[in-house]
Amino acid sequence: MPILVTGGAGFIGSHTCVELLNSNYEIIILDNFSNSNIESLNRLKELTGKNFEVYDVDLLDKENVDNIFKENHIEAVIHFAGLKAVGESVEKPNYYYQNNVTGTLVLTEMMQKYNVYNLVFSSSATVYGIPKAVPISEDFPLIATNPYGRTKLMIEKILRDLNVSNKDWSIASLRYFNPIGAHESGLIGEDPKGIPNNLMPYITQVATGKLPELSVFGNDYSTPDGTGVRDYIHVVDLAKGHIKALEKVLSTNGVESYNLGTGQGYSVLELVDAFEKASGQKIPYKIAPRRPGDIAECYADPSKAERELDWKSEKSLEEMCLDSWRWQERNPDGYLSKTVEIK
Ligand code: WQD
Repeated sequence: MPILVTGGAGFIGSHTCVELLNSNYEIIILDNFSNSNIESLNRLKELTGKNFEVYDVDLLDKENVDNIFKENHIEAVIHFAGLKAVGESVEKPNYYYQNNVTGTLVLTEMMQKYNVYNLVFSSSATVYGIPKAVPISEDFPLIATNPYGRTKLMIEKILRDLNVSNKDWSIASLRYFNPIGAHESGLIGEDPKGIPNNLMPYITQVATGKLPELSVFGNDYSTPDGTGVRDYIHVVDLAKGHIKALEKVLSTNGVESYNLGTGQGYSVLELVDAFEKASGQKIPYKIAPRRPGDIAECYADPSKAERELDWKSEKSLEEMCLDSWRWQERNPDGYLSKTVEIK
């Protein structure tokens, strides 16, 4: 029976679909392509040699979501579909609550209607807000500090209420730290629209010359070199964590949240240095003012996922940089560019 992957054309969704297909799962992809490109699915077929159904559907379109469940005997759902830009969520909170929260309510309503109770949810470390300490474990206070983070926190609480109402629900909420990297083929990767908000895609666009220099948002944090420290995790390690979480929800009931991080923090300047060494590309930068809402340090205690999901990140910072660079070098304009063959 197929696994429904909402947002399967996106950065983490597409990498998870590679792992699902390579593990011989049958998948169905739902995506409204508002923040992804259908070319990623063409690359998915090229990479895996497998085929799958794709529905160009918005989760707010209840009738068409109903049809997907009616037409397919879905076994479980991996739910990526959602908006994820912190700054944009501050400017457009209603858009974020509608899209992320209401979209999830439609999805879970259809799941209940068709007796589908296995769900892996794409949550985020942003639910911890300004953590009281590092490393962060799952029992830390949950105090989101922006509308995007509040949508993730609200959805986690909604999912817990669903399990209270019906113990058949089997749910894993995965709290991502900072996903970077790309599939080693260079065929799929992170393809943000416009100027990247996140650090690694900004660095790779400086490396290709698309952007002139990196602005380092503050070097006066209480960290070893004054720049922000984050837990960067390879997107393929993250994808594999979803397969482990799927296996768990298929074999048990209940609701659990898991940190998917490496447990190791790196500063902005450490990432720049690692990227320069791995890619051979110089990254010019300037020190700029702090970005509102940023915190000094954020990295995971991943031990619960190691214990309960039998999952642990494996890839190094060097591999994350090498794979990010290979994707960007071969796809200077993301999915809009034909893949450039690198001799
Ligand atoms: C990382 C570090 C910046 C850009 C965000 C979301 C979070 C999650 C992951 C979805 C910080 C610095 C960045 C730049 C810089 N997304 N930086 N110059 O903010 O840790 O997390 O993405 O779940 O919800 O908040 O990631 O990559 O934006 O920033 O100096 O041009 O790089 O200050 O220290 P962040 P990021």
